[in-house]
Amino acid sequence: MTAKTTDQTLAELYEDTGEQHIAVTFTFNRVPQTVIVPSRTLASDAIRHYLRKTGTHVGCEHGVCGACTVLLDGEPVRSCLLLAASLEGHEVTTVEGLPDEDGTLHPVQQAFIDCHGLQCGFCTPGFVTTIAAYLETNENPTREEATEAIAGNLCRCTGYQNIKAAVLRAAEIKRERAGGSPLGDDYEISDMALETKVRGSTGPVDGRSDPA
Ligand code: FES
Ligand code: FES
Repeated sequence: MTAKTTDQTLAELYEDTGEQHIAVTFTFNRVPQTVIVPSRTLASDAIRHYLRKTGTHVGCEHGVCGACTVLLDGEPVRSCLLLAASLEGHEVTTVEGLPDEDGTLHPVQQAFIDCHGLQCGFCTPGFVTTIAAYLETNENPTREEATEAIAGNLCRCTGYQNIKAAVLRAAEIKRERAGGSPLGDDYEISDMALETKVRGSTGPVDGRSDPA
């Protein structure tokens, strides 16, 4: 028995469903993939339902919340606003594709753990991909720049202080892994300096203060 060609598969799907399907080939988390989907399929649905990578979350489906953010050729994009067809020939990276091949977490993923940058975690994949791309353009952000970097993503658990801290911590981890000073060239290395840079002046996360 000979294997079906893609064209035969698409023709059969059209006959069976009455709907136009397409084959889309792209690099997904470093691996070449072809998905066959109805031509109206969104990139977010192709990733979640056809490639079965559910780390990319869908919140608003209107391009507002950022939960569906993936990297398209390294740039953050809202996958809920893209048709799967537009992925053809591109490189797509989701939160599952960020760790190194040996399993080492991406600096942003490690920073979210270090800074407890999540509560329910629904928004987290979108923040992580967004911040990963941002740090490629600014390796030593200030607190203000960290705030701007995450301004396009919504967290309903309102964990922004810790997410902002995670941006700065991720930048430190990147520097550490590159063999530099975690605090950058402008900072003296001391626990106090590290704490101030990462945490700023925020109080304890649970809002309680130490009994005097
Ligand atoms: S689900 Fe895409 S921006 Fe909200
Ligand atoms: S951690 Fe729950 S929505 Fe952000």
